[in-house]
Amino acid sequence: MQNETIKQAPLLEARNLTKVYEDGVKALDNLQLTVHPGEIFAMLGGNGAGKTTTINIFLDFIQPTSGNAFINGIDANSDPLEAKKNVAFVSENVQLYPNFTAMQNVDFFVRLGGKSQYKRSDYEDALVRVGLQREAFDKKLKDFSKGMRQKCGIAIAILKDAPAILLDEPTSGLDPKAGKEFTRLVGDLRDEGKAILMSTHDIFRAKEISDHVGILNAGVLVARKTNAELKGVNLEELYVEYMAGYMEEVGEPSALINNLS
Ligand SMILES: Nc1ncnc2c1ncn2[C@@H]1O[C@H](COP(=O)(O)OP(=O)(O)O)[C@@H](O)[C@H]1O
Ligand SMILES: [Mg+2]
Repeated sequence: MQNETIKQAPLLEARNLTKVYEDGVKALDNLQLTVHPGEIFAMLGGNGAGKTTTINIFLDFIQPTSGNAFINGIDANSDPLEAKKNVAFVSENVQLYPNFTAMQNVDFFVRLGGKSQYKRSDYEDALVRVGLQREAFDKKLKDFSKGMRQKCGIAIAILKDAPAILLDEPTSGLDPKAGKEFTRLVGDLRDEGKAILMSTHDIFRAKEISDHVGILNAGVLVARKTNAELKGVNLEELYVEYMAGYMEEVGEPSALINNLS
């Protein structure tokens, strides 16, 4: 965890970030957040809260309507190539080649990311680190479980060796053991000084490892707590309270039920 007395520049920063999609849906409303080196910021929120939109703006997959996303001080949407050198990304559904082996996927995507200095032994070290069993290294991904594919994705992210990491619901669909292992790994990366912004549905893991937790509702960051502020707080109750507040505001109980499903 970051020493509060040392003020470093944030590695990830959303400044007045607003996104209105072409069909008029306001997915983000003036979002402000910062993630410093050695910090994990977890974005909680139901489906449609704006989590993926936030991450996609940092990756320049989409452009904000107004405001800015900075990666290591570089505007992610006006200088995306430079900005993206500073960030690695793991999505919920890691998109790798099913007909390539784990090793071939790692080699391909790591080279695509601009790193050509690695040897097979470096790839092996990374795959061991993320907990992929050795027998799987040279097997095709099409026979892998979601957890195994996720491990390949995080190995690629680790080998990119970027100072910031974006994770979009990385533990969704993983079995409890794989989710636990993944969370431990994310904690290790934070301890190495990475700045990590992750979206998640997993309230308990978020509380366990995050330095900051933000609750997003309809594009608005309705609550933000530091890990210290969460001590003794029932985050689940807090979350439901904010969701309930939102429900009263919009008057659509079905929206909440859908969000929590
Ligand atoms: N490409 C798009 N075009 C129009 N609306 C979109 C698009 N992508 C997402 N949205 C809408 O923006 C809102 C936020 O979505 P999203 O960022 O995917 O939320 P989350 O990741 O928190 O589930 C939702 O209302 C969603 O329907
Ligand atoms: Mg999403």
